[in-house]
Amino acid sequence: MSDSILIFDSGVGGLSILTEVRKALPGVHIRYLMDSEMFPYGIRADGLLAERIVSVCKAAVSSFSPSMLVLACNTASTLALSQLREALELPVVGVVPAIRVAGEQCRRTDNLCFGLLATPATVSRSYTQALIDDFASDCRIERFGCSELVDLAEQHIAGVDTRAALHGLIGNWLAQHPDMRHVVLGCTHFPLLRDELELLWPEIHWIDSGAAVARQSARVFRGIADEDTSLSCNWTGTQEPEAVKRFLSQLGPLKDAGRLLV
Ligand code: DGL
Repeated sequence: MSDSILIFDSGVGGLSILTEVRKALPGVHIRYLMDSEMFPYGIRADGLLAERIVSVCKAAVSSFSPSMLVLACNTASTLALSQLREALELPVVGVVPAIRVAGEQCRRTDNLCFGLLATPATVSRSYTQALIDDFASDCRIERFGCSELVDLAEQHIAGVDTRAALHGLIGNWLAQHPDMRHVVLGCTHFPLLRDELELLWPEIHWIDSGAAVARQSARVFRGIADEDTSLSCNWTGTQEPEAVKRFLSQLGPLKDAGRLLV
């Protein structure tokens, strides 16, 4: 049996990371876990959220014994990545907004303005500010914390046409900053809307962290990859996540699925 990678998010967002990790490590069993009971993370109080993230991940690691954890959530990583690394005895890869890449891309075009689209929690975190200070202090950054966009991505995965709602949510913000040509998708839910974003605003470069996280995961993974292409799915809420199971089934055989009691 091959070793597995556990990929964790509050909802469907981590699927954008899972898709990239799958490409980088195609022969490794991946288990997707969503904390649907506590969704959405982006509007929760920090203390409660940090405790919750640690307890869900601890429960999952003890039930499933993965060889690596990918914390596929910016809201969680910018809050609790170091706490989680202290609490668990396995490698943990986090996901944070691609501020550094955006800064580099802007410098190449001489337009030092970019947007940061994330959850209300992520845009206001000191971790995010530290990334800006370290990697983009010469840039003007327009931040927009939008939890409704997280819900929209959930609907989109369930097959809803979300174009009109998407335009309604971020159209004004983009129109207010006509010089903005780069936007960081600082929430793992948002790359799931990439097709619609590109269709509605083709002039904008949408930057996410998926490929970088996948490269880092491939560097860190120390398990055996023996061509187990199956996937598993777990959730904490009472509702069966049919759309997520469908998404995963398109990537490979779904081995097991069930609720994780925390
Ligand atoms: N997907 C998560 C992120 O990257 C959070 C969404 C939420 O639960 O608010 O921030």
